[in-house]
Amino acid sequence: MGYGMLSTPFEDGLRLNDEDRVSIAARMLSEYPYSQSPVQVVDAALQLAEPCLKDVLVDLGCGDGTVLIRAAGRFRVFSVGLELDAGLVEKARRRVRDAGLSHMVDIVHADLFQVDLSRFSLVYVYPFPPIVRRLSLKILDECRSGTRIIVHDHPLEKLEPLKTLTIPSGRQHVHTILLYML
Ligand SMILES: C[S@@+](CC[C@H](N)C(=O)[O-])C[C@H]1O[C@@H](n2cnc3c(N)ncnc32)[C@H](O)[C@@H]1O
Repeated sequence: MGYGMLSTPFEDGLRLNDEDRVSIAARMLSEYPYSQSPVQVVDAALQLAEPCLKDVLVDLGCGDGTVLIRAAGRFRVFSVGLELDAGLVEKARRRVRDAGLSHMVDIVHADLFQVDLSRFSLVYVYPFPPIVRRLSLKILDECRSGTRIIVHDHPLEKLEPLKTLTIPSGRQHVHTILLYML
């Protein structure tokens, strides 16, 4: 299954000039910056969703690829990462290669808001407040019935979680994992 050919304005640049693309990407990355889900949080979140071999997971903003590496390596789930930051795309691809998981993971340099989510059965996202409303509407609009959505910390709108889990980090931050099913 190949997801690397997904086409987005950031891949083909057909309509936007370079300056437009850079400033839109910079604004998006400032609203939804990189922050890593710790491995123990990722493992607990995936366990909560009970992944199976026929799932296809997407991480909406995959950062350094940790979620993809755990989902593919530990749960044998084919996993796709969408990431806007080119440096993080490179880092995630390198980590996936080093983990020997290239056949199980695809990382796409793309704006998550330009990618159709209907093909995925399991969604992971660690959203930030400025994108929650738009993201919730996109998920409700595109994901199929039965799709499970794992959300770290910031609840989606217009949906009630099926399960919730809290995980102390050892510092002040208590991580919350919410599992939704459409
Ligand atoms: C909070 S981090 C989550 C990283 C990873 N999913 C995790 O939980 O460890 C959000 C990520 O989304 C990326 N991002 C921000 N806006 C994006 C967009 N419009 N499309 C794709 N990725 C985006 C950021 O660069 C960052 O890596």
